[in-house]
Amino acid sequence: MIRLDGVHVRHKARSGGLFSRDAVHALTDATLEVKRGEIVGLVGESGCGKSTLARVLTGLQKPTEGEVLFHGRDLWEMTGAERRKDFGSAVGVVFQDPSTALNPRLTVRQILRDPLDVHRRGTTESREARVEELLDLVGLPGHTLAALPGQLSGGQRQRVAIARALALEPELIVADEPTSALDVSVRAQVLNLLVDLRERLGLGMVFISHDIQTVRYLADRIAVLYLGRIVEEGRAADVAGAPSHPYTEALLSATPSLLEATQRIVLTGPVPSATNPPPGCPFSTRCWKADAECSTAFPAQTIGADEHRWHCVHPQTSGSPAGDRTPVPPARSTA
Ligand SMILES: Nc1ncnc2c1ncn2[C@@H]1O[C@H](COP(=O)(O)OP(=O)(O)OP(=O)(O)O)[C@@H](O)[C@H]1O
Ligand SMILES: [Mg+2]
Repeated sequence: MIRLDGVHVRHKARSGGLFSRDAVHALTDATLEVKRGEIVGLVGESGCGKSTLARVLTGLQKPTEGEVLFHGRDLWEMTGAERRKDFGSAVGVVFQDPSTALNPRLTVRQILRDPLDVHRRGTTESREARVEELLDLVGLPGHTLAALPGQLSGGQRQRVAIARALALEPELIVADEPTSALDVSVRAQVLNLLVDLRERLGLGMVFISHDIQTVRYLADRIAVLYLGRIVEEGRAADVAGAPSHPYTEALLSATPSLLEATQRIVLTGPVPSATNPPPGCPFSTRCWKADAECSTAFPAQTIGADEHRWHCVHPQTSGSPAGDRTPVPPARSTA
């Protein structure tokens, strides 16, 4: 459905003065595919480029280099009008914080009607009917239509944001940390809603989170980002069950799952800056396996079984041999 091919996004650095030529490498050589009806989880720590990738996927950010293909068509070769009409209605976005994503002066009814009006979908009556259908789809009661966002709870607001993203019957929803601003008690409800909608509507979804444990049970595939690079990608069970990249292993150990005993990996060493990424593997400054080879060049891609890919010179192997410095327990089960 949508494919990023060798996408780079570089921003002018905010620091460094007016004539500085420093660039922030927000995304480097990203290649990613989302198939119809599939959930791709995107994980990585703060600043690694997750939102940048979301902006590229939704056409809000033009890549500095590389291609975005939507059903085989280059998004940035389309005219602005085509991009808004064909692509804009096919991709819905849900942002992290529903209190800033919704216009506080509009009622829920107006918020949900707006995309239908802008894209001139159907008649006035059919738009009204669609608004009620959308409300129903996300499990909100009818009286919320007259409410302003400020009169709703955080969870309800996020449901409105999801309903708005669904208004034009998109093929893909990009959800950028859709639950992290919510109360813990409603997070699971919003997650379940998204999974349920995927099943009922056959949507594709890109689900962004810094928590790999949330993503592993939700996604079909997971891509792990580190300092603007996709360092590992594959089926969720493989990436989270038998990670190849040490960074993925460290992410998994940071939020232990209830089902498996994990030994927490504490990362030491400097976190490199996106303004001056190190020449070799970006994780080499913090990796317990790094040696001289790791700082020469970015590791080539290795492709394992079932399209499991990673960029690492010293990948994790299940059942690390004794004497290995790896502070990692033996192989996990993929149950
Ligand atoms: N407009 C911009 N100008 C300059 N630098 C930017 C701009 N937008 C993003 N960046 C930088 O690009 C990098 C990636 O940012 P991005 O927002 O994609 O990260 P993220 O993974 O979404 O982080 P978080 O988890 O905190 O939301 C960061 O170093 C950020 O400071
Ligand atoms: Mg972000």
